[in-house]
Amino acid sequence: MGAFSPSTWLLIFCVSSFISAFSGRYTPDWKSLDARPLPNWYDEAKFGIFIHWGVFSVPGYGGYGEWFWWFWQGRQDPNYIKFMMENYPPGFTYADFAPMLHGQFFDPHEWADIFEASGAKYVVFTSKHHEGFTNWPSPNTWSWNSVNTGPHRDIVGDLASAVRNRSLHYGLYNSLYEWFNPIYLSDKKAGFKTQEFVRNKLMPELHNLVTRYKPELIWSDGDWEAPDTYWNSTEFLAWLYNDSPVKDIVVTNDRWGKGCYCKHGGYYNCKDRYSPGELPSHKWEKCQSLDIHSWGFRKNMKGTDVMDLAAVINDLVYTVAMGGNYLLNSGPTPDGMIPPVFEERLRSIGAWMKVNGEAIYASRPWRVQAENATVPVWYTSKGSSVYAVFCINPMQYSFKLSTPKTTEGSVVTLLGNPEPLRWAPLPSSGLVILLPELPPTPAQAWTLKLDRVY
Ligand SMILES: *[C@@H]1O[C@H](CO)[C@@H](O)[C@H](O)[C@H]1NC(C)=O
Ligand SMILES: *[C@@H]1O[C@H](CO)[C@@H](O)[C@H](O)[C@H]1NC(C)=O
Ligand SMILES: *[C@@H]1O[C@H](CO)[C@@H](O)[C@H](O)[C@H]1NC(C)=O
Repeated sequence: MGAFSPSTWLLIFCVSSFISAFSGRYTPDWKSLDARPLPNWYDEAKFGIFIHWGVFSVPGYGGYGEWFWWFWQGRQDPNYIKFMMENYPPGFTYADFAPMLHGQFFDPHEWADIFEASGAKYVVFTSKHHEGFTNWPSPNTWSWNSVNTGPHRDIVGDLASAVRNRSLHYGLYNSLYEWFNPIYLSDKKAGFKTQEFVRNKLMPELHNLVTRYKPELIWSDGDWEAPDTYWNSTEFLAWLYNDSPVKDIVVTNDRWGKGCYCKHGGYYNCKDRYSPGELPSHKWEKCQSLDIHSWGFRKNMKGTDVMDLAAVINDLVYTVAMGGNYLLNSGPTPDGMIPPVFEERLRSIGAWMKVNGEAIYASRPWRVQAENATVPVWYTSKGSSVYAVFCINPMQYSFKLSTPKTTEGSVVTLLGNPEPLRWAPLPSSGLVILLPELPPTPAQAWTLKLDRVY
């Protein structure tokens, strides 16, 4: 036996990176924590579902539905004050919405069925938003949770079982700050020199959440008012990566204190709906809401506020070509239903993924991300295949790509079409492909697979 085969090298590489990842302990500083390799499942998954559900789903009104309490009583926006005066009795408080979060039609298996059908590989659910209401029986909430009031259910737990039953990864969103929590407000007044909220509320609650539900992803938010030293973020992450029950599989984002986003943590979210113009050097995720104005359910949502399927697919493909993951949000009703318009979008994405998912899942950015070919294309790659996804019907049979360099053995196919396509090299670089009749899809997006090109 001579040299090792490529697969042996791969095995050695995997084993050694496994060892280097898990020898030694992480120390509670960004240098150590930022060096942790991201568990592989996350980059391979590419597509996840984000769900915003909480007391804010009950009023379900405004621009940012989930920010209702803040707009009403923090900012005292006249539209929200008027909405309350016209629709609720005098003296009605935000807390009075909680018993109306009935969730009487909440069926976690139905949700999981929709998520799986969408082609998503992970789910991120709001365990606690900025309002401080927990969707699990947190022992630190003094009844401001989904078991003591509202649906009287452990929503985080019930959804965990259903989502995992579909072999999807389960992640939890958690807001560090709570708008109106008096302990938080007192720390804030002290210029964040005291940490009573972190000691008595946030940390016990985060530890409870992790040990109880073993989330594979923690989507942190609500960090921006205070530095990470106030939140004790590095101490928490060191525990999470060294000693927690999810230490080897958990993935985190970058919202761990003022100035952290796009800089520290696991993968980067940067700002909401972040859309980089060129290939980032660090793993990232675009979070996007189907209702373009709101993450939470809104009764005043219009049909034109909802992204259409073609826009979603284009955004997903762009994100993946740029090395990102796509986390697509919808807000269920207070009754626990995923609005049919969202369900329809999600199932349609899945139908597109059934044919084209090969270009998405576990793909890598190619040497070029995009090209204005006959119509614009996004490139991804996997192994020795290059994928060119186009999101506009070219309305002609000849299709030119100038970036791929062909060889005599190059093979071109259209995903979903059984026969290889005829093609010819172009004089300088690239090729011209003879397209077949494009299979109809409401997504208006198709994938060319190019083998043995470079
Ligand atoms: C999902 O639940 C069904 C019905 O209880 C069970 O038969 C199946 O084994 C479960 N699958 C997983 C992956 O847990
Ligand atoms: C934050 O971490 C420091 C250093 O480990 C520790 O001394 C302190 O008690 C922690 N504070 C809270 C509120 O957890
Ligand atoms: C393609 O054309 C559009 C519109 O002119 C432009 O914004 C975009 O940057 C071009 N893309 C590439 C990869 O050249």
